[in-house]
Amino acid sequence: MIIKGEITPPGDKSISHRAFMFGALAQGTTIIRDVLESADVHSTKDAVQSLGAKVRKDGNTWVVTGGSLKEPQKVIDAGNSGTTARLLSGICAGIDGVTTLSGDSSLVSRPMGRVIKPLEKMGARFLARSGRYLPLAIQGGSLEGISYTMEVASAQVKSALLLAGLCAQGTTTVNEPTKSRDHTERMLAYFGAPPVIDGNTISMSGPAKLEARDISVPGDPSSAAFPAIWAAATPGSSVLIRNVCINPTRTGFMSVLERMGAHISIENIQENAGEPVGDIVISGEILQATIIEGDEIPKLIDEIPILVVAACMAEGTTIIRDAAELRVKETDRIAAMVKGLSRLGAAVQEQDDGMVIQGPVRLHPGSIETFSDHRIAMSFHILAKAFDIDVALDDTACVGISYPNFFASMESLT
Ligand code: S3P
Repeated sequence: MIIKGEITPPGDKSISHRAFMFGALAQGTTIIRDVLESADVHSTKDAVQSLGAKVRKDGNTWVVTGGSLKEPQKVIDAGNSGTTARLLSGICAGIDGVTTLSGDSSLVSRPMGRVIKPLEKMGARFLARSGRYLPLAIQGGSLEGISYTMEVASAQVKSALLLAGLCAQGTTTVNEPTKSRDHTERMLAYFGAPPVIDGNTISMSGPAKLEARDISVPGDPSSAAFPAIWAAATPGSSVLIRNVCINPTRTGFMSVLERMGAHISIENIQENAGEPVGDIVISGEILQATIIEGDEIPKLIDEIPILVVAACMAEGTTIIRDAAELRVKETDRIAAMVKGLSRLGAAVQEQDDGMVIQGPVRLHPGSIETFSDHRIAMSFHILAKAFDIDVALDDTACVGISYPNFFASMESLT
């Protein structure tokens, strides 16, 4: 089915989380506009309130007064949100007292050792289930800067360490194997505490204070990717996606689509709170297969499920590799995509760190398991629409984690 029209995606999830956290840490009152009103972001908003930030809504604007966070009286529930759990671990490592964190059945099985290990080196103490999972308790307090080389490229781990570094004595230096999304670095600069960045090494001198700011959250490229890929892979389609964050650490999926032969242009580029923003214009084409691997992976990690849909429509063999991190997202996204596609009749080869797709695939109607993962549900919905087949999803409510208006928004383009 072809699509036409224009759409404004909801606010960026990563930036919305950080806006509440930075507002809570900063002295003064931070005004946040165009926040993503989704379950994940509300987990962060509730969490910073539990830590003592004053949060209120004034029309469509959130007003956060921060600067004096304290030990919470109750367990913080991070819900389904890895960003809440991991970034908050870094913040709470710097708060005197004990914070307990938990989450839903998906989040409690996601790895927390990756933040526990370096934060312990900085001086925080953790008690975690099996040593590395939620629920966990953090004894925070006086931290010291460390130099740490991360094993995986993870913006969540990097951000947890930089936020802990704000409260630590001395310099906290983080080396990432490959550059991951840099919203925390940009927001630190915007709130008056710029880190020093040298390639993939980021240093933060502490203790440092943040100053409250006004932020308008740009549209989420990860949400824009759904209509973008649907349009790009369907000849005859054309869409305009307005006000999208085009931070180069997030737009890997657009580079891949261009390599596959898609027509994409970006107009009206502006800067907003330290982030580049623009309107994306896309028209459809028969796409060609490609290889997605290496340094590109962190720049499109959340878009791989929907890129798999592009690969299903493209001509030739698409290979996705170096993406083992997908196995520890809201669900194992490699297994979930392979299982769903196989149920619909596509022969997809599962690999430890990715998959191989021979396109264009032939599909039949059917039902698939989403594993209550928002991006799996949205990807199979787009697949169904693009291939004009009926695909029943066992959970549609999960899209509310990142794109509450998803089904109506997509419908408006048909
Ligand atoms: C995020 C970082 C990524 C991404 C997640 C959001 C962030 O996770 O998958 O959806 O906001 O920092 P990792 O840092 O674990 O790769």
